[in-house]
Amino acid sequence: MTGVPAERSSFLAVLDGDVMNPPPLWMMRQAGRYLPEYREVRAKAGDFLTLCYSPELATEVTLQPIRRFDFDAAIIFSDILVVPHALGVGLRFETGEGPRLDPVTDAAAIAALPDILDPSRVGPVYEAISRTRAALPRSTALIGFCGAPWTVATYMVAGRGTDDQGPARLLALREPDLFQRLIDHLVETSVTHLLAQIEAGADAVQIFDTWAGVLDPISFERWCFDPLARIAAGIWAVKPDARIIAFPKGASSKALARIAALGVNAVGLDWTADRTALRKLGEKTALQGNLDPLRLIAGGPQLDEEILRIRSDFDGVRHIFNLGHGIRPETPIAHVERLVEKARAPL
Ligand code: CP3
Repeated sequence: MTGVPAERSSFLAVLDGDVMNPPPLWMMRQAGRYLPEYREVRAKAGDFLTLCYSPELATEVTLQPIRRFDFDAAIIFSDILVVPHALGVGLRFETGEGPRLDPVTDAAAIAALPDILDPSRVGPVYEAISRTRAALPRSTALIGFCGAPWTVATYMVAGRGTDDQGPARLLALREPDLFQRLIDHLVETSVTHLLAQIEAGADAVQIFDTWAGVLDPISFERWCFDPLARIAAGIWAVKPDARIIAFPKGASSKALARIAALGVNAVGLDWTADRTALRKLGEKTALQGNLDPLRLIAGGPQLDEEILRIRSDFDGVRHIFNLGHGIRPETPIAHVERLVEKARAPL
């Protein structure tokens, strides 16, 4: 175990190779509707995308969970669908229904995607990052992010979230060359978007592949593993020290091990991950996760017990405490307070 001086971030220390006890802590979707102060700013902004594209408001909501819980990392308030939006794809968020996009399903629509991300859409994200970095103490890291090409493509093809991402899987099977062009385009624009976030002040970037788990192993290789490897290589070609966290939700232990072997600084684990089997990976890369967000809603003794089990399962290896997926709006704040207390208590 290594002690870190107060001005150094424990989150970055673990990404850089240290083992920390207690582990650094943050939560996916930590800025969001479970917080009354978020709902207030969100109401003022009117709609979700206006909030994403207002640097001052995006900075404010990014900082809210840090003020309340003193997490070890902040994640910039934005969305993975900002990338298709900045490629000219129509996007709206209907209240209570999730995202709606103008579907991109044929050769003409894919060929029409511009090479450059619209600066009027991504510019405010970078400005929010610079502002947030300036407002945070050095001991709190700032995470930038994007969606993985596969996950972003599933929304672009279906025009919305679906249960099994059937529309994108079917297009990839029927017209693999066409689908490959869409993925390639997203690989390139994701590299640009992540590099710009690092340039603006992000200390690490996370790549969210929320729908990695719906693919068979051969398809996973082509649509998840290969694009991730290319994004990481593209970033490291320009910034060899860039810190990258990969979160392929639902990926098998074998797939996670291959991703770790790319040299990423951390892999994110969802709550179904077999911690005892994966523990050894924590000698190669940091393991980030993996409390079931429903356990955080339910609370009580099962919550305390699971927090303790996660900590002891990963004791002695590189671990960043997090949820296995984003926190849900109905989560009681008292349960988050309990999580913060238990995740940081002496083991
Ligand atoms: O983690 C954070 O606090 C940073 C902000 C963040 C958001 N979305 C804000 C958001 C991050 C990292 C994301 C990632 C994201 N967005 C993913 C990947 C991670 C995951 O959760 O699976 C995906 C698939 C999306 C696309 C998306 N955005 C969906 C499907 C939805 C609707 C579902 C929902 O929770 O409402 C969103 C909207 C969204 N993105 C909200 C927030 C806070 C809620 C919108 C609101 O306030 O009305």
